This record gives sequence, C-alpha cells and structure tokens, in this order.
Amino acid sequence: MTRYLITSALPYINGVKHLGNLAGSMLPADVHARFRRAQGHETLAICATDEHGTPAELAALEAGQDVATYCAEQHAIQKGLGDRFALDWDYFGRSSSPQNRELTQDFARALWRNGHLEVRATKQAFSATDRRFLPDRYVIGTCPHCGYDRARGDQCENCTRVLDPVDLISPRSALSGAADIEIRDSAHLFLKQSEFVPQLRAWIESHAGDWSGLVYSIARKWLEEGLQDRGITRDLEWGVPVPDDIGDGQLKGKVFYVWFDAPIEYIGATKEWADARGIADWRSWWYAAKDVCYLEFMAKDNVPFHTVGFPVTIMGLRPQHDWKLVDRIKGFNWLTYYGGKFSTSQRRGVFMAAALEILPADYWRYYRIANAPEGADTSFTWEHFAAVVNKDLADVLGNFANRVTKFCVARFDGLVPGEGAYEAEERALIAELDQRIAQYTRHMEDIELRKAMGELRAIFVAGNEYLTRAAPWTHIKTDRARAAAGVRMGLNLVHLFGHLAWPVIPASARVIHEAIMPAPEIIPWPDEAMAEFLDDLDPGQPIRAPDVLFAKIADEQIAEWKARFGGAED
Ligand code: MF3
Ligand code: ZN
Repeated sequence: MTRYLITSALPYINGVKHLGNLAGSMLPADVHARFRRAQGHETLAICATDEHGTPAELAALEAGQDVATYCAEQHAIQKGLGDRFALDWDYFGRSSSPQNRELTQDFARALWRNGHLEVRATKQAFSATDRRFLPDRYVIGTCPHCGYDRARGDQCENCTRVLDPVDLISPRSALSGAADIEIRDSAHLFLKQSEFVPQLRAWIESHAGDWSGLVYSIARKWLEEGLQDRGITRDLEWGVPVPDDIGDGQLKGKVFYVWFDAPIEYIGATKEWADARGIADWRSWWYAAKDVCYLEFMAKDNVPFHTVGFPVTIMGLRPQHDWKLVDRIKGFNWLTYYGGKFSTSQRRGVFMAAALEILPADYWRYYRIANAPEGADTSFTWEHFAAVVNKDLADVLGNFANRVTKFCVARFDGLVPGEGAYEAEERALIAELDQRIAQYTRHMEDIELRKAMGELRAIFVAGNEYLTRAAPWTHIKTDRARAAAGVRMGLNLVHLFGHLAWPVIPASARVIHEAIMPAPEIIPWPDEAMAEFLDDLDPGQPIRAPDVLFAKIADEQIAEWKARFGGAED
C-alpha cells in the first residue's frame, strides 16, 4: 500500500498569515492528508515556519526583539492558529532547528564534494552606518535609465528595468537612509544549476502528464529561459552558517540563502518529528523511499523553487545519496481580496487570527476549498463568502441534519426506527450515491478540489431532495412504516455525511457523526457499497438532535465585516 508524504510550502515567520496563504498551501494539504488517512493510508503531513532571511531579521528589528526570540514567539503563534484551523500536521517544525542546520550543512558538503558548488567573487553593497551588507532591494537610489529617485537595487518600479545596486546613482540604505554605501568584494557559493539542465528537463518532461498545466508550464518556462547558476549564500547574521570545510576559508561568517535551507526543512521537520516522538525510522519517508508518494502543495510563486531549485539540490547529491524527489506538485493561483492583493505588509485582507474571531474554522475551510484558486486567480468577497456559507452549509447540510434528527426525536423517541422496508425511492437514491461517491473519491484523489466540493454538495442536495420526496412528516399521519423507512434512511444519510465531510470540515463532521453515534478520531472514508452503508444503523439505537450546525450570515454582519476589513473601496 502506498504511503503519502505531504508537505505544505512553509509559511514565512514574519507575522500571522492571511487567507491567501491558507488557501494556497496549508489548507489544501491538510484536506488531502485527512482524506488519505481516512482511506487508511499511512500518511505524514509536514509543515514548518520559514525563519531565515532578511524579512525575518527586519521584522524582529521592527518588533524590538532579537531574531531568535522573535522567531520562537511567532512560531508558537502560527502553530496555535494552525491548530485552531484544524490543520492536523504530524509535525509543524522550524527551519531554524538544529536538525535543519545539520541537514543543510551536510547537503552543502555533499554538493561541494561532488563539484556542484563554486566560490565566486561578487560585489555587494555595504552600509557603514548600518554596519551590514544590504540585500539588493534594501539599497535605493536614482535609476540610471529613467532618473526615478527611489529605484530599488533589484528593480526600478518606475521603468521596471532590472537593476543591480552597483548601477544606482547616489545609492542609500533603505534601513537607515544613510548614503555611506560602499561596494565591497564578497565571496559567495554558487550552485552550478546550468549543468543540470538535461537531467532536469528529463525529470520535468516525465511529469508532463501528471502535473497540472499551471505547474508544468511554470517549470518549462524556467528551463526555456535558461538556468542561471544560483548564489546560495548571503552576508547575513541570521541563518544556517556555512561550515568551515566548504570554500577554503573564503566563506567565514556567511549563511546559506533562505531558499537553499527552507525546502531542506521538509526533511528537517521530518527529523524533528521523529526526534520528538522517538521514532527511529524517519528516513524511510525520504531516503530510497520507493513506496512513498510525495506530494507538495504551494502557490504559483513557489513553483520554480520546487521544480528547479530544490530538485537540483537533491539531484546534486546523487549517486551517493538517494533523497526523494517530489512526485506530484499541486500549485495554486492567487487568492485576491476584492480583486486586489492580500498584503502582509499593508495588512490588507483577512488574516487567520481575525478570521477566527468572526466565525469557526469550518466556515472558512469549506469556502476556501469549494472556491480554491485552481484554474485562475480567485477573488474573496464577503458577499460571495456569505452566499456560499448560507446555501451549502446552513440551508443544505445543516438544515438536513437538523430536520431529520429533530423529527426522529419528536416522533420516534430519538431511536432509529426499524419498521418499513426500503423501496424504489430508496433504491434509486442508493444507486445515485454509489455513482456520486465514486466520482467524489476520484476528484479527491486527483486533488481537484472545486470538482470534489461540487460533488460533495450534489450529494448533500440528493439527500435533501430524497427527504422532501419521502416526506416522513406527511406519511406519519397515515403510514407509520413508510415514515419510519424515510427517517431511517435520513439518519443513515446524516451518518454518511459525517464521513464524507470530515476531511474538509472536521469539527462539524464530528458533531454530525456524533448525533448518530460516537466517531473515531479519523473518520474513515466509506469504502463499502451504499446499499450496506445506508442500512447500517441498528433499529432502536439512540440518536441526538444537534444544535444549529451552521448559523446563517446576516446582511448586517457582511456590512460590519466590510467596514472592519475594508471592502471593494480601498
Ligand atoms: N516561505 C515561502 C513562501 O511563503 C515558502 C517556502 S517553501 C520551502 O513563499 F520550500 F522553501 F520551504
Ligand atoms: Zn527607472
């Protein structure tokens, strides 16, 4: 049986993540991991905070904390929010962990020994006032092409030309504004990516059929544009130090570039998990792991690093080391906020903590998966969110479960009625659900989330329509056995919906399931035929009517949230 290794792009440490981050990696990874666990597959779901790089240093500076303290605090905050969103990772690690430091250094040593790394002389901007090297975008000055006086060292946003800090006229530090910028020589390590083009091309082509068009076309574009060798070290304090035995003493005090060590943390976090749990055999998930299907979830801007950067690192360790390459990448487009960018720096949009102040996690989980940014960028609007929640969750699913269970409590003492046989109406429903559940399962296996949720919704609707036709509240007056059969089927459907909804809305699915009977921690995927599953409840077994499962969102709430978070206007 296949084991599933599932990773979500690692969220940056600097601040609480917004719904776009959630929708583009962490949430779909969780839904898929839950689905595979429900199917009975051994599954390992890994995520971590991405803690290195300039943004982490600057965020700490702004918070008035040293970087290590800042990262520890923010990690705990992100972990807490993940838990409250029911993101059920096996481990949520930290790229600054000792495990990742050791792996990153070992990987670099092996690449060095294999001749894939080279020390090259580069020119870097150094600010005497800030007493540090400045990354390109922290040097500002006058654009040599258009004269714009606030051009950044990586690009002029006025004329869009790509720049080098050395090109800028009267450069100054974006941190302090100081003009005492010197250009200093600094040696750095380069990974000779250009040598990997044939291997990389063969590997990417081998996935032409199974990666989505989005992922495949991004990977191809990078190959076609010609792979540059990549600088994998930086002049920073915070990061994984380059070990002394690489680079003949020319790299003292340098750290690895954040995009070098971050993907290695997928492996590092697996080791953190194993160390925390006393598991010896963690490598079998990664190393020479033929029985493992490895899936990565990410937004589209991350695709190049996962189809080129990280794979080159892994390939460069061969033939001595056989770490696993990804099998399937699920990439997402952008989630926008009223068509504009969600922005961490400008605090625009809905952030995970604020979302939970308003509504429980399942409302967000369902909406974000049902409207996953799969085919194109997708806009979040409060109006659409409310419409979907009110219809799918409140009117269709919640109302169904409440209707059946309440009626059973009122008219059958809250016990599953045994009278009455299933007839043509029930047999037709069973046949329809057999089809639909097979379809739903296929979409979940293919990670086609919108299609999967469309099918799940159709299943809920089929149950509702059945109940309307069966109308036990009418039959009860004249034909108690017929009413009993309808209620029994209705209760079996409630039970079924608890199973089918669990990967997406785990807390609500549990409440729904437990209205009928206690639920195991992992609510299994139904693999029996519906004729059996929907005739599973024992007559006389007690059930409960849950409270309202999903509250409808009122127009006043939409108005209030638009005022609080900003709507179309800004
Ligand atoms: N932190 C990056 C981002 O949010 C993603 C890192 S993914 C990893 O864009 F592979 F590097 F871990
Ligand atoms: Zn310019």
